Amino acid sequence: MDLRAGRFDGQMTDDAAVFSSSIEFDRRLFESDIKCNRAHTTMLIEQEIIPEESGRKILKALDELEEEGLDALDLNPSFEDIHMALEDYITKKIGKEAGFMHTGKSRNDQVCTDIRLTLKDEVEGTINDVKAFIECIVSMAKENTDTLFIAYTHLQHAQPTTFAHHLMAYANELRRDCERFMDTYKRIDINPLGSAALTTTGFPIDRQRTTELLGFSKAMDNSIDGVSSRDFAAETIFDYAMLSTTLGKIAEEIVIWSSYEFGMVECSNQYSSTSSIMPQKKNPDIAELARGKSTIAYGELMTVLAMIKSIPHSYNRDLQEVSPHVWNAIDNTNDILAIVHGMLASLTVNKERTAELAGANFATATELADVMVREKNLPFRTAHQIVGRIVSDAISEGIGTSDIDNDYVDRVAVEITGEKLGLGEDLVRQALDPLLNVKSRTVKGGCAPSAVMESIEIMERFLKEK
Ligand code: ARG
Repeated sequence: MDLRAGRFDGQMTDDAAVFSSSIEFDRRLFESDIKCNRAHTTMLIEQEIIPEESGRKILKALDELEEEGLDALDLNPSFEDIHMALEDYITKKIGKEAGFMHTGKSRNDQVCTDIRLTLKDEVEGTINDVKAFIECIVSMAKENTDTLFIAYTHLQHAQPTTFAHHLMAYANELRRDCERFMDTYKRIDINPLGSAALTTTGFPIDRQRTTELLGFSKAMDNSIDGVSSRDFAAETIFDYAMLSTTLGKIAEEIVIWSSYEFGMVECSNQYSSTSSIMPQKKNPDIAELARGKSTIAYGELMTVLAMIKSIPHSYNRDLQEVSPHVWNAIDNTNDILAIVHGMLASLTVNKERTAELAGANFATATELADVMVREKNLPFRTAHQIVGRIVSDAISEGIGTSDIDNDYVDRVAVEITGEKLGLGEDLVRQALDPLLNVKSRTVKGGCAPSAVMESIEIMERFLKEK
């Protein structure tokens, strides 16, 4: 079968054929291309557009190809793409009647139908994998609702929290990543088949029927838009880029927390490397690579956006170059997802160290100021100033949180307001206790075990949704 035989008297140069072929990255479309041809041929038979007998032969050959698999195709670049390689296979099987298969269809609508079908599966798979990761995080969180942890702002000690609270931040970010995919799915799930080259066809094709057969939610309303739009692809890459950002942040925290200075977690040996010269080293290479590789999807997004910018309607061959970048963003992000899932699941938390850090470096200072407001009706700004001074005095005197008592507080209060506060030892001690700090934050979204459990329940409801 030679597509050029009518119009041209010869072949492309070899390098032009290779340059213009999409066959290598079309491999991914193999199953979708069979489905697409099957649905189109079935509809052509039902609409009595092609002879039933020829149609049946085409369908049988498509079934055989599905059985035999991708290796049955001759993926010679001279075929341009998988659509022509597939047609070549059918032609070799049943002869010239194979030619009926392309009635009222173009590779222009076929390729974007295939991409959409493939992306639906890919996105569904990723949603399931993200949900499995969230499930793992939720079960870790349940076991750590009272594991003290230090929360940072500006990577400086901020306030005590729990490991569960921090983990549930990951879970909520991942949930939004999931929901973003679910939303994009709606725009992928629309059928362009029947747009043909760009203006549909004079044959009485039934687009509703192919939409049903292919399992799309509806048919696209405009055939020019049908063949020329790739916004769904760019949007999908964005979703993968965003997911890889979430994963890269988790990886980054594993790198920081596992350093000697932080000492908060230990990465499992299975996700660690050593040094070729420094025998003592345990390096978080896998986490670093997860962080580094998360940028690949950003590059693919920019590439695709630049590719689809300012190309005129409708189909332009530039669009062929979109697909490999979509696949690469997907594969890379899926790899990162699997690795970060495994790495986090096998992480060990050094609970003694995290408890020590949670109470250190005046991380409970906000609560001391809050107690002054609650118990003594002090405006928060005044309390803030008193506690700020307490901390700066303590630092210059070289004393820590545990040395601050009621007298210390009153001495500074007198300096600033002229009056003692008289909070009493108990209130001062309680305010500076990291565990009590955590337990008092029962507000929705807070770090108290009860609040974290509530967020866990919300997440479990999400995980159960279909
Ligand atoms: N291989 C092309 C692509 O991936 C589809 C075929 C359209 N080719 C053409 N010359 N009209 O976009």
